Amino acid sequence: QSATGSLYRFPVIPVKGVPLMNHIANNWDSIWAFSPHPTDLLIATYPKAGTTWTQEIVDLLLHNGDTEICKRAPTPVRIPFLEIFSPPPIPSGLDLLEKMPPPRVIKTHLPFHLVPPGFWEKNCKVIYVARNAKDNLVSYYHFDRMNLTQPEPGPWEGYINKFMRGELAWGSWYDHVKGFWEEREKRNILYLFYEDMKENPRREVERIMQYLDLSLSDDVISRIVELTSFKSMKENPMANYTFIPKPVFDHSISPFMRKGEVGDWTNHFTPGQSKMFDEDYEKQMKDANIPFRTLI
Ligand code: A3P
Repeated sequence: QSATGSLYRFPVIPVKGVPLMNHIANNWDSIWAFSPHPTDLLIATYPKAGTTWTQEIVDLLLHNGDTEICKRAPTPVRIPFLEIFSPPPIPSGLDLLEKMPPPRVIKTHLPFHLVPPGFWEKNCKVIYVARNAKDNLVSYYHFDRMNLTQPEPGPWEGYINKFMRGELAWGSWYDHVKGFWEEREKRNILYLFYEDMKENPRREVERIMQYLDLSLSDDVISRIVELTSFKSMKENPMANYTFIPKPVFDHSISPFMRKGEVGDWTNHFTPGQSKMFDEDYEKQMKDANIPFRTLI
């Protein structure tokens, strides 16, 4: 927040080579020092990969599908965003976490090497969600237009290049998805794909349930699948981010719950842009064997 109290688009500052918004970079020491409890669960994603969706699934699973309990507060109050220090009215992630007794569910967009080491020392469970690069980029572009505290997206064509160069807030998508992929077995990370969740939400909800050592009835699982459909979540005021004031999130520019589909990139990339992107993708991802799908 500026001295006059008005909001502005935060610039990014590199932290260990990763561009993070200044309110995060300026509080880096306290974020890095965060010490979780062994029962805490971390949901980690590159921005716009399906974080909110996964948060809702996890919250419902942990509360046996009880909608009243899961509407107790907006998503970032139920599941604090570890590194966020702004914008108001949501308090910082660390402030919220301090007041919350474990076991807690915690959200982060930090790449693997910036996740506070306490999570690994305590063997916390971690769910990682990855989304194919092109849809992830499109979603981030629209989000950067509507979230008036994110760095200015600029025109579409240039945005593609910023994404490819890893210049957006939270850095390189390529490094992000690879970082967690490489560590997934050693660290017992549940690595999920947005496309799998769209293709067969029930299967993925059950995978999450098993990872959390829960066993819910078939009826409850069906209800959770229904409650976490794009349509249900778009209508849920505690999950659709309409609780963020308009000077911060301007849903009239682009709603937070925008499309929720696989393959919307085909409506954005020209054939030339797609070719250029794919050629660069091959180079950046050549050593990684991550089974991404850009269409289902
Ligand atoms: P789109 O912009 O493509 O619509 P995050 O929560 O990580 O910020 O990701 C937001 C993206 O996930 C947005 O993508 C949003 O619409 C989509 N999303 C949110 N809830 C969803 C759901 N229940 N089903 C499918 N997509 C969902």
